[in-house]
Amino acid sequence: MNAVSHDPLADLARLLVEGAASGVGEDASLGAFVRHQALMRAYQARYVLLPQDAPSGGVLAPLRRHYEPRRLAALAELRPRLETELIAPLASASEGEAEIGPYVETMLAEIRGAPPNRFVAFLAGADHREDHYRNFLVQSSPDLLAEASASALGVIGEYGEPQSALFRILIDEFGYGAHGKKHAVLYRATMRSFGLDDAYNGYWPWFDAAALELHNVIHWLFQNPGNIFRQVGFLLHAETAYQRSTLAHHRYLREFHPDADARYFGEHAHIDLHHTRMVIDEAVTPLVARFGAEAGREIVAGAEMTRAAFARAGDSLVAISQAFAAAPSARFGVDGAPREKLGRPVTPSSPITGAPVRVGVLGVLADGRDFAAFPPSAIGRLVP
Ligand SMILES: [Fe+2]
Ligand SMILES: [Fe+2]
Repeated sequence: MNAVSHDPLADLARLLVEGAASGVGEDASLGAFVRHQALMRAYQARYVLLPQDAPSGGVLAPLRRHYEPRRLAALAELRPRLETELIAPLASASEGEAEIGPYVETMLAEIRGAPPNRFVAFLAGADHREDHYRNFLVQSSPDLLAEASASALGVIGEYGEPQSALFRILIDEFGYGAHGKKHAVLYRATMRSFGLDDAYNGYWPWFDAAALELHNVIHWLFQNPGNIFRQVGFLLHAETAYQRSTLAHHRYLREFHPDADARYFGEHAHIDLHHTRMVIDEAVTPLVARFGAEAGREIVAGAEMTRAAFARAGDSLVAISQAFAAAPSARFGVDGAPREKLGRPVTPSSPITGAPVRVGVLGVLADGRDFAAFPPSAIGRLVP
């Protein structure tokens, strides 16, 4: 229901006021966090979201409010500045001179020979696995609860045979039109099997900076048509890496949470083998044959940007999970509705005088000063 009932600009205004009150001006990571939330709103205003159940006052009024043209225009106006500040540095850092052919060969070999998934390896030796896993599911949900809605924006238009190959991948992501097989629907089932609310954005205040950055990198790639070659690079990296990470999660769930719904991971471990081949043979190869080395360099830049964004999000999740597990005053588990009791956001460098701090859906630090030992990417909220 929150999908259409909350007002993105009111959220943004509140965040900025909250930000001012909590010293966003001096705290760079808090500032980036608040701006990533605004950019997420700008991107998500581009596609259809309906609540799962009819709101008591009817659906049309909140729908019209959410997609009100002046509101959309205001979000669209914010977007270029936010993209320049938050995403452009990541885009330039991924540019280089690597040639596409050897790059693909090395990437395939590296991903296939990669060490075990770090988060899954951490979980295997951790206590409170369920709480850690719930937090992983929530932090991955900004993108996965509308999986492939971003990449769908890259498939419209007219660009020849590679477009039809990407469209075939897209319809797999949407379960070939069978709703129960749509990847976002499979992800919902996993969330529910861990006792989580599966509403789109149900946990938005708890998405941390790394989760928002990954979401926004993906949307920056696909919501700017000039990025078409980088979009292919995204798919090249994501489809290849995902077949491995989802296999690790599938095995982990079977071993440690045998009652959980693991179909999302099982499906990807299988189908992304095909998607990798389709991206390489039917998109990368013909595009480079048609447009030459500069197209190849753009594809590499997109793949590198994607690799770096996934690595930052993955490293941040492991570091925050480890920091929470090591915090002396940590109390695992949270109760109540996902958006209840929202305190103002804080970072590890915020001045906190012992008030409790909640970290994602991991739980609460009874003594908020423990938060100072967390990695800089961590975001908590004071418990009101
Ligand atoms: Fe998928
Ligand atoms: Fe896929």
